[in-house]
Amino acid sequence: MADTEGMKDSHNYHLDTPQENEVFTLKGCNSLDWGMKNRLSNIFDAQSDRTVMLAVDHGYFMGPTTGLERIDIRINPLLGYADTLMCTRGVLRSMTPPSYTRGIVLRASGGPSILKEMSNEHIAVNMEDALRVNASAVAVQVFIGGEYETQSVNNMTRLVDAGNRYGMPVLSVTAVGRDMVRDAKYMRLATRMCAELGCAYVKTYYVDDFETVTASCPVPIVIAGGKKLPELDALTMAHNAIQQGASGVDMGRNIFQSDAPAAMIQAVRKVVHEDMPPKEAFELYETLKNAAG
Ligand code: 5RP
Repeated sequence: MADTEGMKDSHNYHLDTPQENEVFTLKGCNSLDWGMKNRLSNIFDAQSDRTVMLAVDHGYFMGPTTGLERIDIRINPLLGYADTLMCTRGVLRSMTPPSYTRGIVLRASGGPSILKEMSNEHIAVNMEDALRVNASAVAVQVFIGGEYETQSVNNMTRLVDAGNRYGMPVLSVTAVGRDMVRDAKYMRLATRMCAELGCAYVKTYYVDDFETVTASCPVPIVIAGGKKLPELDALTMAHNAIQQGASGVDMGRNIFQSDAPAAMIQAVRKVVHEDMPPKEAFELYETLKNAAG
């Protein structure tokens, strides 16, 4: 029997206080559904609306890339510093501790290795499996201007449709072919196409006139780090991208191939979330590196 005796019967409906309607401030994302926004909140920091994604998915087409030979040894100690881990489902299930509760961006396209035509990718994960591993977004490579351009765009739009059914954001990764010019004109075309076709956010490379790329893309842009650079140069690139409208980095080799990956990712965080100037961030990197011995 319900225990109703002595039940408190005084209500406060706060009649003079209108219900709060929180605006979701992440660029271009306010009209998304609740589940989609909630997943994006696992990726983008609520204070800065920016993210430091740690990209370790290179093995899906490059094999055991330098620095990723042993994910358990080299990457797992960095997990506490990343807002999000970008990886494949193979690495997630075999080497990522299930106690990790921050965002996971799951690589969802694949097929060819570096030995073949790279743009000939297909969807490599279905939405059900992405949900099963609690992914916060799925990532798909889009090869604008590449040999299999239409196929890769079709991979993306099919994932966007599936993602919209379940509240799963899609990250479009604009892959630039070996022979293509990596400039703002190309990046404007590629990022805008991905946004128009429905992805939640886009990953691209930092180029000159980057502010025109971010200005003409209606959803957040994160930058890839690219090949390993000296630490100060990588921090400068991240700083310039953020100051020119990027919403974060999805950085791999410039973190895990650094002499001091933990120091580097902490310095990158300062640049991304606190607008720290690159020289100051580099000093922090050196201090943390020396303290670690
Ligand atoms: C592979 C990817 C990688 O995640 C991406 O290139 C980021 O890593 P890096 O900073 O090493 O370039 O999307 O296609």
